Amino acid sequence: MDIESQLQQTIDDMVDAHRGILAADESLPTMEKRFRPIGVESTEETRRAWRSLLVTTPGLGDYISGIILFEETLYQTTDNGTPIPEAAWKQKIVPGVKVDKGKEPLPGAPGDLITRGLDCLGERITEYMKQGARFAKWREVYPVTRHNPTLLGRRTNAEVLARYAANCQELGIVPIVEPEVLMDGDHEIDRCAEVTEQVLHEVFHALHLHKVRFEHMLLKPNMVLPGKECRRADPEEVAEATLKVLKRTVPAAVPSINFLSGGQGAEEATANLNAINQMRGNAPWQLSISYGRALQQPALHAWRGKAENVEKAQQALLKRARLNSLARKGEYDPSME
Ligand code: 13P
Repeated sequence: MDIESQLQQTIDDMVDAHRGILAADESLPTMEKRFRPIGVESTEETRRAWRSLLVTTPGLGDYISGIILFEETLYQTTDNGTPIPEAAWKQKIVPGVKVDKGKEPLPGAPGDLITRGLDCLGERITEYMKQGARFAKWREVYPVTRHNPTLLGRRTNAEVLARYAANCQELGIVPIVEPEVLMDGDHEIDRCAEVTEQVLHEVFHALHLHKVRFEHMLLKPNMVLPGKECRRADPEEVAEATLKVLKRTVPAAVPSINFLSGGQGAEEATANLNAINQMRGNAPWQLSISYGRALQQPALHAWRGKAENVEKAQQALLKRARLNSLARKGEYDPSME
């Protein structure tokens, strides 16, 4: 298969009108942070057991079309010995991999961050593809203050995302482009809207310069929300602000927008997605999920590292996946909880 057809096939396998993506690509420090509250030590084996539980959830493929894995997981197996990427695809869930190497301060732009990992990226991707990865993910992070992100921060982060995405497409792997405007802070929703619009504008400008084909990428943005230390906004307000920014900045050629949950509660993230789809009007893209915490948290608390809780945890995951699938059609109601 030529590279264009390969990319298109992956998009076709991942994008439809009812499913979304499960982000299970937490780095080692993040996994420790997730396991600590449930009293589980993060070891290679506990991480394997957790991700095996996720990927073997019966029926998950009805609601989930892609799973983002951490590099380590590509080489691990399920409880019954199937390689995890293969177990995902058995359920028609496309396996992908996080390829960025985490963030550090951006010199010259106090308060802004930049993500590492462009060196030897092509070699790593080629290796991951041998393990079954068909798409990749790269996250740039934008803290919001009165001064951040700066113009330099926005330009440099956009450039890195574009170089990553171009590298992916050249090798035949679909890039998920993730510019995350953080929820931390006490800013109002209008400030988040302003920053998200500037960020996305810069990102698509850079993607265009680097000749990234919009048809063969996915966008993973934040929803437009007030800062965590500000008030909560109701779903209609979030939906209106989010759609306005996306319509101003995201080309119609992008097949799907898959939101991150970013610290929203599980039910909040579903209600917001539901409102977005109810108010979508003539929006040209699929509006779906690529949630980490909002899909995994209830399941993680049901599991607590115990084999006898596996089924209960899988039911909790399936419930969130199913309700988010309904939210994709605007058919979710909180009474279903
Ligand atoms: P959250 O949905 O927990 O924000 O995670 C999504 C993700 O992959 C962040 O990079």
